[in-house]
Amino acid sequence: MIDVLELLPKVELHCHVEGAMRPETVGELARANGVGLPVGDVTELYRYGSLDEFLSVFWLVQSVLVTRGDWARLAYESVVDAAGHGRVYAELFFTPARHLAAGQRLADIVAGLTEGLEAAEAETGSRAMLIADIDRAYGPAAGLQLVTELGELQPERVLGIGMDSTELGVDPASFREAYALAARLGLRRTGHQGENSPASAIATVVDVLGAERIDHGLSLMEDAELVRRFAGERIPLTVCPNSNIRIANAFPSLELHPYPAMRKAGLLATLNTDDPAMTDLDLGYEYRSVAEAFGYTFDDMVAIALDGVEASWLDDSDKAALR
Ligand code: ADE
Ligand code: ZN
Repeated sequence: MIDVLELLPKVELHCHVEGAMRPETVGELARANGVGLPVGDVTELYRYGSLDEFLSVFWLVQSVLVTRGDWARLAYESVVDAAGHGRVYAELFFTPARHLAAGQRLADIVAGLTEGLEAAEAETGSRAMLIADIDRAYGPAAGLQLVTELGELQPERVLGIGMDSTELGVDPASFREAYALAARLGLRRTGHQGENSPASAIATVVDVLGAERIDHGLSLMEDAELVRRFAGERIPLTVCPNSNIRIANAFPSLELHPYPAMRKAGLLATLNTDDPAMTDLDLGYEYRSVAEAFGYTFDDMVAIALDGVEASWLDDSDKAALR
């Protein structure tokens, strides 16, 4: 079953394109763009004690992306790499706050990413769309500005918005204007929450921000009533079990992750890698390790893969084609 899970066609809804940057690409772009790295081999930094510790390394990796060609290379390589592990479709996050603050143009970033995705699709057949993430650390005004620019550009590859970065001391409701504008523009909406914050914050992202999906949603399990609601309404969670161990240090081992409890409760809990290159993960390993840790059968894993299709933002005919 192990090799079969590598080949099983899989959808991924929670993967940060910057976190999928090959370590050698980080080094090469840093040199090309004159960005100083504190170590020769960036993977020496890839051990994290907490989400916020991870984020400081993520920001360093992001900082090597300067030109439109850099974004194209990143998108191309990330899709080629994931295709090698059976990923056939993805909705990829990019988080442009620090690049926009440094003077890059959203139009160039999206054009570069799109160019790379198209080239990788032509070569591998693996498709990907984009989700523009608000970086919570840059605050609500920057979030609203990002959505405003998306409204002006209306880029075809960008299906919707999300929100990532730190959860500590941030009230998700403060991003309500950005989410309301996204809704008016017809953009889909998701948000990272519950990786490092209580279940009440997850409820806020759904009820106040109108998010249709939740990224991570780990702490949902603290609130039995909310679990019943999410299960009843089929509100998807994009869960990243191995990331929760390697980034958030939420559990000492995969066996202690609540993923099987989530599935048992009837939640639409999909499987994803989050930041594969920065955590030495891939989607094939994610499926294999979860199957092994929780004793899932091949049919169980197919059901999980199909839930990825259901939770995606593809239209019905594209969903049917993937099933
Ligand atoms: N940015 C990249 N990966 C992230 C994660 N797991 N949580 C929050 N922000 C992120
Ligand atoms: Zn994430």
